[in-house]
Amino acid sequence: MGAGIGNWTRAVCVAALVMALAGCGFSNAAADLSAPDVPVVADVPDVPVATDVADTGTDPGAAGDGRIGGVGELSTDATQRPYTTHVTWQGDTASAATIQWQTQANAADTYKPRILFAREDEIVRNGDEIRLPFDAAHVAEGAGFTYETFDDSGTVVDIVQWGVDLSGLVPSTTYYYRAGTWGAYDEATGTLTSPDLSPVLSFRTGRAKGERLPFTFISAGDSRADDGKIAANANRLAAIPADFWLFSGDMTEVGTQAEWWYWFDAMRPILVGKVLMPVQGNHETFADLYYNQFALPGEAGLPQAYKEHGWSFTTGNLHVVGLDSNTDDTVNSQAEWLDSDLSATDADPDIDWTIVMFHHPVYSSAGAHGSTLRVQNVWLPIFEKHHVDLTLTGHDHDYERSKPVRGKQVVAAGQGIVHVVAGSFFAPPYSNGSDWWTELSVNGETGNYCEWKVDGKSMTVTVHSGDGTQILDTFTLTK
Ligand SMILES: [Fe+2]
Ligand SMILES: [Fe+2]
Repeated sequence: MGAGIGNWTRAVCVAALVMALAGCGFSNAAADLSAPDVPVVADVPDVPVATDVADTGTDPGAAGDGRIGGVGELSTDATQRPYTTHVTWQGDTASAATIQWQTQANAADTYKPRILFAREDEIVRNGDEIRLPFDAAHVAEGAGFTYETFDDSGTVVDIVQWGVDLSGLVPSTTYYYRAGTWGAYDEATGTLTSPDLSPVLSFRTGRAKGERLPFTFISAGDSRADDGKIAANANRLAAIPADFWLFSGDMTEVGTQAEWWYWFDAMRPILVGKVLMPVQGNHETFADLYYNQFALPGEAGLPQAYKEHGWSFTTGNLHVVGLDSNTDDTVNSQAEWLDSDLSATDADPDIDWTIVMFHHPVYSSAGAHGSTLRVQNVWLPIFEKHHVDLTLTGHDHDYERSKPVRGKQVVAAGQGIVHVVAGSFFAPPYSNGSDWWTELSVNGETGNYCEWKVDGKSMTVTVHSGDGTQILDTFTLTK
């Protein structure tokens, strides 16, 4: 978790960038604020806000049933309310998950981060209330760290990032949880001492490796802090039955903490019900903030400086690789691990499908950015050598799907890689184009996100407009 703690120099750079809209020469893996993406910081709040939770007081449940109930947030201290709560996978998706959240810094020395969690078959529903069993088997404790950054007014803020790893989970199962802390639980009265807990939230574990039952996931990319449009669609998107979400970068405009709070707030309906696995785009300028806030797999084969930049996970018969495509250094530094990860996957009879996600397109005919030579030169031969099925990227704010391509030529279906650019999760739209590889392209005006259905040896992708009213593309890969 967390590749490092924000330091004074970088924090000053945040303030300088925000106030002067100019770079300040920091050394950073994602310093490519490429044209025409001019960083503009919108009116963002300088304090975390929890908008959709109710403070229901300090009595969490009824006496005697050994369960913790309640509907909304339980807060005895507003500075300890959990926010930015979300779930990622760092290891075996079928049996483990990591839940992270933030509180204000004054709690750092006394706060014990805890998760109360239960399987869907262990909860009791009473109207809107969900009651979770309270015993040692349903409580996990974690740890936290503090990092210093600036809010948009230039004021130094200390952020406390908490994380709890859950393990021993059951595959393909919805888990319900409350994140936060408490003092003690009195079984006789059903009361917690000093609870500061989120409402009951949920996520779903991954499929057992090699399982071939159908499942759905969603991918999106490039929101660039347009939180208003995300928020307008988030409840609908959260209701789409899906195992998890992928996000292909450019969540933020500049990547300041205030923008991150806005993104987490806008995405909240999705994040409190699904695992989301991200990669870093070029607009996550302050890389430490991104890596501090997302607990991602620490792949053993990656150089220490690039831990969490590249990651992979398997769910069922699908293998997903995430990569940091931001610079020549990041591309070169992940190549050896990528080769080894894909080599193992290619030889694994449990895996039918391999998708690689990163921000900068392999092939893109959009005028704004276009194809990415460093990716074509270094990663593409590795993808082709190990029979990757599809690359999923963004950066160009449009939609484009390639024909199957291998060795820089169009080949028959099943013989090459399909390259998808889907970079319009409400970022400023770009116009699309067409080139020798193009099967279909759509400009970014409508926005887009992708719904993936993996069904054994078939994978169908449906690309929706951002508001969900149009289908922009649908295609099926089979093997
Ligand atoms: Fe973008
Ligand atoms: Fe980008």
